[in-house]
Amino acid sequence: MSADRPLGVFDSGVGGLSVLAELRRELPGEGFLYLADTAHVPIGALPDETIRDLTARAVAALHARGAKGVVVACNTASAFSLMHLRERYGAGRDPFPIIGLVPAVKPAVAATRSGVVGVLATPGTLRGSLLRDVIRQWADPGGVRVLTAVSADLVPLVELGRADGAEARAVLREVLTPLAEAGADQLVLGCTHYPFLAGSIRAEFGETFALVDSGAAVARHTRNVLCGAGLLRAEEGPGTVSYLVTGDPEASRTVITTLVGEGGQNVSVMQVST
Ligand code: DGL
Repeated sequence: MSADRPLGVFDSGVGGLSVLAELRRELPGEGFLYLADTAHVPIGALPDETIRDLTARAVAALHARGAKGVVVACNTASAFSLMHLRERYGAGRDPFPIIGLVPAVKPAVAATRSGVVGVLATPGTLRGSLLRDVIRQWADPGGVRVLTAVSADLVPLVELGRADGAEARAVLREVLTPLAEAGADQLVLGCTHYPFLAGSIRAEFGETFALVDSGAAVARHTRNVLCGAGLLRAEEGPGTVSYLVTGDPEASRTVITTLVGEGGQNVSVMQVST
């Protein structure tokens, strides 16, 4: 049965685990195939064409391993790839949904009281047209100001399991202070690695910003898409997760185990090439 196949989830590294957690909450009966392209992370500062190519290879690898669709759990990859992927996989005989991530500007605009919203993202996501489109669609009409902050250092720190360390806090202090000073009361976490920095952001800025990410909304959307395509697994649970990485599996095992918090039990991680 095709609905019994696992759902693919892709990120350049461990950031997509923040989305996977929401997917597992929303879809407890599903099996997941999580692919982290750890041989290439971080991708946020790479050229558009390279980001597109790495994403296409990862999605092809998940397709070849029997996934029934893919959640691109990476804002940077989504920014450059969704259209191409949908063209590529939309033409097949069987449905193969591609679900992507868009920075959560819409709920942040709805919630702001100061009229200033901050977006923290990678250089790639800031360059891509998806963010521009959602700002134009949701922020501009109401006159909400959107201020962006960028860093290429945060993703590698999360990958190393140092989201709560002094270095991450120093980077956050530097890049987010101008947003706080400009009166931003909402901070869109425009990269799936950043929910893991919530503790450090709170430690530096207290309740200055409400932190807004897209994980829960994407999980709800995924349920609707699978349902519409006849691909929702009927089982109640518990679903399973297989973790695949393109880099060193030993290095990834520790950080994945910490971030998914499976009662301290080591998760099994397999190395694949894309
Ligand atoms: N988790 C990815 C994102 O959401 C990180 C991109 C990177 O590897 O720099 O953008």
